[in-house]
Amino acid sequence: MDRMTTARGDLDLARFPQDPRDPLRAWDAADEYLLRHLDEREGGPVDLSGSLVVLGDRWGALATALATALAITPAAHRPVHESMHRPVQISDSFLGQQATRANLERNGLDADAVRLHTTRDAPPDRIDVLLVRVPKSLALLEDQLHRLAPHVHEGTVVVGTGMVTEIHTSTLTLFERVLGPTRTSLAVRKARLIFCSPGPEVSRGANPWPRSYALPADVGVVSGLTVVNHAGVFSAERLDAGTRLLLRSLPARTGAEHVVDLGCGNGVVGLAAALSNGEAEVTFIDESYQALASAEATFRANAGAQAAARFVAADGLADFPPGTADLVLNNPPFHTHRGRTDATAWRMFNGSRAALRRGGELWVVGNRHLGYHVKLRRLFGNCEIVASDPKFVVLRAVKR
Ligand SMILES: C[S@@+](CC[C@H](N)C(=O)[O-])C[C@H]1O[C@@H](n2cnc3c(N)ncnc32)[C@H](O)[C@@H]1O
Repeated sequence: MDRMTTARGDLDLARFPQDPRDPLRAWDAADEYLLRHLDEREGGPVDLSGSLVVLGDRWGALATALATALAITPAAHRPVHESMHRPVQISDSFLGQQATRANLERNGLDADAVRLHTTRDAPPDRIDVLLVRVPKSLALLEDQLHRLAPHVHEGTVVVGTGMVTEIHTSTLTLFERVLGPTRTSLAVRKARLIFCSPGPEVSRGANPWPRSYALPADVGVVSGLTVVNHAGVFSAERLDAGTRLLLRSLPARTGAEHVVDLGCGNGVVGLAAALSNGEAEVTFIDESYQALASAEATFRANAGAQAAARFVAADGLADFPPGTADLVLNNPPFHTHRGRTDATAWRMFNGSRAALRRGGELWVVGNRHLGYHVKLRRLFGNCEIVASDPKFVVLRAVKR
């Protein structure tokens, strides 16, 4: 665990799940720059006594620092309705929320010192300070700014932050188009701030998210069906080539069984499992709330409003009842800012082994060069190539 130094003291912060081999810290220079600015702004510190929203806080460093600042503010200067004015963190990530909970606790704060909202929750009615840790996905930023725009007012202080590599002209144009006039700070330790002044004269148009597309004609039972994508979801514009190979290779199965779409994204794989076997019960799992909302919308649009399925926010299969799944379908994340590139895949494979009953199967699609077959053979003692093309392989491992 590492300590972040702030003007109001040091904070112990860690990512979630904690991994001793993960050298990455739970905050960076962009978080520090923003926190410093709140205290040292030219013209005086930013008034945090109103309704404060933090969007995109990766591991809860900002929320923990702000909750600490409010907790040590002398009572006379605290907001009158303190319970209403706890910082609101808006996050798309289950892992980010878990990290925030753990970081609050590590620093002696109550779990409810911060209100944890997902990107799908209704924003607070009125926002006086909006802090934005610029997300990797411009689409997610677009969707979230559209959702928040009706809740800011001309006096709202809007400050964005990010590493210089994360802030592009398109990022600034987006703030300008959806909220109002925007400028940036000088870069400090490769981080930059964004200052935006919400204005009444902005004509932002409608939020373009969610979007839909039709699947190609060669993907089995889901051919030609429509997939719903909320902003930021994997393959939101078109079907991924790996997913396509998996859909084309899926086994025809019958009888009652419990299928898991692990890392479901827009839910296209779990939908195929549900439509190809009317007796299957499907659980869709993802750590992204945008993904789960997409999977649910995709499933409802194609399987019907009454069809049974579960949509679960989780770190893979960490909380799944052991020995109960018959089939796990998985296209693991391969490039992620959330730690070592194959760490999540490895956790997903381990979790699958624990979640499967004896005789149950894990089907994985991945880039050839990732060498997932080596990992699966080590873990399951077997692994067979079901399908392949020049770029991808579909692998099957059976729990013996
Ligand atoms: C490569 S995408 C596959 C999405 C979808 N199954 C498809 O094939 O289009 C991987 C998915 O895993 C999710 N994910 C990443 N880390 C996760 C974790 N720790 N637990 C659950 N899901 C996770 C991502 O949000 C993403 O939706």
